[in-house]
Amino acid sequence: MLGVSTASPDNRPAAGQAPNAPAPALVKRAFSGIQPTADSLHLGNYLGALKQWVALQDDYDCVYSVVDLHALTVSPEPEALRRRVRATAAQFLAAGVDPDKSILFVQSQVPQHAQLTWLLNCLTGFGEAGRMTQFKDKSTKLGSQGVTVGLFDYPVLMAADILLYDAQVVPVGEDQRQHLELSRTLAERLNSRFGEGTAQVPEALIVKATAKIHDLQEPAAKMSKTGHPAGIIELLDPPEVIVKRIKSAVTDSGTEVRWNPEEQPGLANLLGIYAALTGQSVEAIVAAYEGKMYGHLKQDLAQIVVEALAPFRERTALYLADPAQLDAILSSGAQRAEQIAATVYGRMAERFGLGPELPPA
Ligand code: AMP
Ligand code: TRP
Repeated sequence: MLGVSTASPDNRPAAGQAPNAPAPALVKRAFSGIQPTADSLHLGNYLGALKQWVALQDDYDCVYSVVDLHALTVSPEPEALRRRVRATAAQFLAAGVDPDKSILFVQSQVPQHAQLTWLLNCLTGFGEAGRMTQFKDKSTKLGSQGVTVGLFDYPVLMAADILLYDAQVVPVGEDQRQHLELSRTLAERLNSRFGEGTAQVPEALIVKATAKIHDLQEPAAKMSKTGHPAGIIELLDPPEVIVKRIKSAVTDSGTEVRWNPEEQPGLANLLGIYAALTGQSVEAIVAAYEGKMYGHLKQDLAQIVVEALAPFRERTALYLADPAQLDAILSSGAQRAEQIAATVYGRMAERFGLGPELPPA
């Protein structure tokens, strides 16, 4: 559920807990990021990624980033970018990312991300980067005039993000699977070129049931900021908008509630959202709606989403009402992130032959 954080709303560390205590070395590390490209995250971001981020915090040493350098690939207005960086961070916190447990930071505040990207650029094939389907889709839409080198290089920057923290797991939605494969390939290449132990090979953590939340108007497509405006539920949408979007969701032909993702993808998407937000199984939900119509399901689901998001909206507003506190959380996160990133970058740069050799460990 949304808002499961154990952090106090003002983020003071609990008694006896040092906010900057180093994580025990044996705990596995998780890394993930979301781009600040909208004022609100959407339900796909939450169910596909953020929900897993929050759940991982008890068992992993987690590092989560607002990846503003990635957002530059869509040429945002500077003021909008600045606002969205804070808005995105506030939503991570409101969803339950706890800065006393996890490192939360803004990518551009840790310079090693751009530095490691250059090293990885020099190990990445031009054709290899050109095969990324997200790049191919975006560049087809933009046309050759609109495509930047930054957009082409986006997956290499993402690999740098992950490898800089020696992350073992990367919680993401299905659309990032191919990018994760490239990160793994680059880690393996670093190890075979410069010796084992140069890079940690990361694993994607993709939860099947929520890996792809679909657009409510075009169930074949993923829910996305750039999709159909009525096909998306933004986490900060007011209740009346949520109700309207769910009630007008495309639900295929038929009236009976069944689980048939092939023939009834629109209905299956609603059932998937219902199950993810309530913790019930799809079978139990289908059984509960036996003899009832789509309309009943939509009405109940609208209520479930509204209720799940209300505390989230309130918490986001509280964090946004205190930008100084938010900035303090982010700057402490950046310092903690940089401590790890500088060590890992140093290790890698040295193996490439940059700078003096490090004394033996
Ligand atoms: P982005 O907004 O592209 O930075 O995506 C942030 C995270 O949300 C990534 O882990 C994506 O894989 C995930 N994500 C985005 N859209 C969806 C969706 N429709 N369903 C599931 N996960 C998604
Ligand atoms: N490319 C990811 C997306 O669009 C965002 C991202 C950037 C990311 N760096 C990352 C995700 C590192 C996981 C790990 O969703």
